[in-house]
Amino acid sequence: MASMKVHGKPTRTIWPVGGARAVEIIDQTALPHAYRVVRLSSLDDTVRAICSMQVRGAPLIGVTAAYGLALALARSADDALLQDAVRALAATRPTAVNLHWALLRMQACLRPLPPSARADAAWHEAGRIAEEDAEQCRRIGENGLQVLLAAARDRSRLDLMTHCNAGWLATVDHGTALAPVYAAVDQGIGVHVWVSETRPRNQGLLTAWELRQHGVPHTLIADNAAGLLLARGGIDAVLVGADRMAANGDVANKIGTYLKALAARAAAIPFYVAAPRSTIDFACPNGAAIPIEERAADELRLVYGRDASSVAAQLRQLPADEAVANPAFDVTPASLVSALITERGSCAASTAGLRSLYPEEEYD
Ligand code: MRU
Repeated sequence: MASMKVHGKPTRTIWPVGGARAVEIIDQTALPHAYRVVRLSSLDDTVRAICSMQVRGAPLIGVTAAYGLALALARSADDALLQDAVRALAATRPTAVNLHWALLRMQACLRPLPPSARADAAWHEAGRIAEEDAEQCRRIGENGLQVLLAAARDRSRLDLMTHCNAGWLATVDHGTALAPVYAAVDQGIGVHVWVSETRPRNQGLLTAWELRQHGVPHTLIADNAAGLLLARGGIDAVLVGADRMAANGDVANKIGTYLKALAARAAAIPFYVAAPRSTIDFACPNGAAIPIEERAADELRLVYGRDASSVAAQLRQLPADEAVANPAFDVTPASLVSALITERGSCAASTAGLRSLYPEEEYD
């Protein structure tokens, strides 16, 4: 599968800057209105980029955190500094387990080394994590396409629905839920994607932007339109990503995912979840144990966009004292998930299913 493109040019979401200990990222808070590249040169830059969602999406958060740790260790790398940097990065966002997976992997690589060897090792390990993420997502694309074609009414045309952004912007390259879409396009299979807006952060607009960059036909819908469209029929499958998969196959993903899974089940439409190994939390027994991020109330109170002169603008849609709750993720029980799609293949959303793909892991 070809790499993802921006204005026709192969592009990743994060890349090391040649000759400098720094990385560059696509600032996702500026999309879809502006394409802006931002340089991260320090731990603080990285923490800010993750918290503000300049980078977002579970796999990309993990990779960015790995580079953030490497940036933190660039000058000094003793145990105390390593621990402080890990703590700062781990506190950025609670639900996406890829963050913690990446930090654990970095520590396993770095702690046995003398401090003088850690800076270079951290940089290389972060690079390896990034490369592996891209390759795993490419494989998710191949595996997911087989699953979708097996469920399709017509193998020459797929009509899909997705939620949030689980495309290449949420990973290093290719995406998770959208990787099979790009694989289908590469094989000349016609694809149309229903993209839900994903209030309040509107990650669906990122999905529309990246699908547009690749010329993939898609239609943006308000979140609340999904039930009607699924009930009407004509959609082959709902395909989403994940921020954390529990060992029993329960899945945390962007708020609103659960409602789509319920509507898909009522309409007898398959509901698939695509994610790499780094999103599976084998130590987490079920969805009830997954921490759900509660984000700032202003994400509901304020709306961002462009005014009539195309200038960035912010509008208040609620009084500042209006009571607001803003849980950023929900949990879809394994019973509503038709299959999990990973870099190793697909399986039932259950401990037995995950064990068949990852027999080497320890299960609670
Ligand atoms: O809050 P976000 O934008 O980081 O949430 C992202 C999602 O929920 C994605 O669906 C998930 O991370 C899968 S990304 C391949």
